[in-house]
Amino acid sequence: MDALNDRKDSNFVDKNYEDKNHKDRDNKESITENLENDNVAWTSKPLINWINSRRSMGNLDTPAPTRTQIEAAIECAATAPDHKKLRPWRFIVTEGDARHELGRALVDAAQAKAVQEGEALSEKTIKKTHTMPLRAPVIITVVTQMQEHKKVPPFEQMLSAGAAVQNLILALKAQGFSTVWRTGLLCNEPAVKAYFGVGPDDYVTAFVYTGTSPKDEPTRKPIDIESLVRFEQ
Ligand SMILES: Cc1cc2nc3c(=O)[nH]c(=O)nc-3n(C[C@H](O)[C@H](O)[C@H](O)COP(=O)(O)O)c2cc1C
Repeated sequence: MDALNDRKDSNFVDKNYEDKNHKDRDNKESITENLENDNVAWTSKPLINWINSRRSMGNLDTPAPTRTQIEAAIECAATAPDHKKLRPWRFIVTEGDARHELGRALVDAAQAKAVQEGEALSEKTIKKTHTMPLRAPVIITVVTQMQEHKKVPPFEQMLSAGAAVQNLILALKAQGFSTVWRTGLLCNEPAVKAYFGVGPDDYVTAFVYTGTSPKDEPTRKPIDIESLVRFEQ
């Protein structure tokens, strides 16, 4: 119930949680109406504009999402398209002092990588690496936990995890928070995988840095889709 109430607080989601029965009926009606009237742009415009307005924001601060808000976002993430319902994703929420521990794991990873490459890390790099997780009050790490399945190869599971990340990001935005999806060169180094308890065939797919940006999300330049799409009839 709390999750629903929290979601009701958000500007965007407010309208969509009014009445489930109405919502289901309205969805069907509006889809039919759209198909009949070729009116998709008109009826979907606010939602499409809202999706297009998402921008990644670095250096996030409090307020951070509550546990209920994070769980609501993870619920959305877990509705990602998922062949054979394998649920090949896991979410680890790092907050408060745990961010320092993650920072230490990143330093361990960077040091091990440097040794392998015959290099040494400067004090500056060590400090920068250690403080990376402090760039947001909450980091939601999304892991692709690969499942054995004859019909669902690893790449499909990775794509499903990517879709889960995007749902997570949009659900956080719906609740008024900014995010940035980061990976960086260290995310699948052994020390980081060990820190999260990630198996050798699994991947750290995203660090979703989450919080509130002191700056407004910049307006996205219009995207010319001409070069990206081809219609064939
Ligand atoms: C798999 C993946 C990994 C990424 N890793 C990083 C990263 O480590 N650091 C970074 O600054 N941006 C990273 N990005 C890009 C940002 O998340 C963001 O998409 C990009 O800066 C464009 O900004 P926009 O989302 O506002 O369009 C990554 C994106 C993806 C999809």
